[in-house]
Amino acid sequence: KLRVLTDTRRRPLRDLRISVMDRCNFRCPYCMPEDKYDRHFQFLHKSERLSFAEIVRLSRLFVERGVTKLRLTGGEPLLRRDLVDLVGELSLIDGVEDLALTTNGIMLPQHAAALKAAGLDRVTVSFDSLDPDIFRMLSGGRGSPEQVLDGIDAAVEAGLTPVKINTVIQRGVNDETVHNLLERFRGTGVVVRFIEFMDVGTLNDWDENQLVPSAELLERIEQRWPMEPLDANYRGEVAQRYRYADGQGEIGFISSVTQPFCGDCTRARLSSEGSLYTCLFANKGTDLRGPLREGVDDATLGQIIDGIWRKRSDRYSEMRTQLSGEREKIEMYYIGG
Ligand code: GTP
Ligand code: 5AD
Ligand code: SF4
Ligand code: SF4
Repeated sequence: KLRVLTDTRRRPLRDLRISVMDRCNFRCPYCMPEDKYDRHFQFLHKSERLSFAEIVRLSRLFVERGVTKLRLTGGEPLLRRDLVDLVGELSLIDGVEDLALTTNGIMLPQHAAALKAAGLDRVTVSFDSLDPDIFRMLSGGRGSPEQVLDGIDAAVEAGLTPVKINTVIQRGVNDETVHNLLERFRGTGVVVRFIEFMDVGTLNDWDENQLVPSAELLERIEQRWPMEPLDANYRGEVAQRYRYADGQGEIGFISSVTQPFCGDCTRARLSSEGSLYTCLFANKGTDLRGPLREGVDDATLGQIIDGIWRKRSDRYSEMRTQLSGEREKIEMYYIGG
């Protein structure tokens, strides 16, 4: 039976984003800059990451509390060994309506078909530019646009649809390659979504000049292709949707800086070592692995989760301008965006 669990701002718990792997095979400068995440960096030991059994057990408890949407993230989730087995188990949980994966796409050609067969519904691929030089600058010199395109094709062929692309826009870096990217995916059914560059983590030296507000980007896109706004697919959808007036599909804008969406934020995030975060910008999480491994029962674990959500008051993006200065924040790769 479902109990309605809400936080101090009356927001229910609907989505659980699970980071299954803190490592990544890219070194995007805004997320895992190469000089910090070099070969001396201590990633988690295997035993420190939640096991599949632990992830499944926690997911069940979250679903009992209202979660219907699970998203697997990283780092790069496809680096986690035997990930299809986890997908298989999660897809069998009663009440999971949407099971998705966020990936950089490079390993999709090997895995797409098996993931679909195991019960994954869809994938979202992070892809910042089709231009090879800009791509490599933004991936820390790893991979190529062709490899990501192959991954996207594999996902489409496997039926992991609708495939979405997340493109983080930085002024003067990749904002001039937006039309090129849209040209490539217009009419394919793949949905490109532009994300405003955010001040997540502590490593990306964020400054407002790097931000291209979605309103400006839309205007630039409309000079080439007229767009029409669409209604949200569901309450609290992060992206604002538009469709090409000529019927060639839809695109989206995720404008967490210029139009924060904390009011409807129903997302919880679980790190790969089992800490629960109630905001992308939280400075600390609550350890769930400790109690799990001490052998507490489901009722006790459930009470811990209830307690965390009931006292949740996060709305960082709405408060951004008031909260100036240095704040301790969790790194994006660690909780998967
Ligand atoms: P759909 O389920 O396909 O609608 O996608 P989603 O809403 O789960 O979006 P996705 O996980 O692809 O998130 C895309 C990007 O939006 C993330 O990588 C973040 O950059 C940003 N984002 C997602 N959720 C939040 C959030 O709760 N707060 C903020 N500030 N940004 C978010
Ligand atoms: N601002 C916006 N999006 C970001 N991502 C990583 N860092 C940032 C940032 N500073 C995105 C990635 C990927 C998703 C997991 O998070 O590009 O699409
Ligand atoms: Fe890896 Fe994604 Fe971070 Fe890039 S943004 S380093 S692909 S986790
Ligand atoms: Fe949710 Fe925090 Fe993002 Fe606001 S800033 S939408 S509360 S994760």
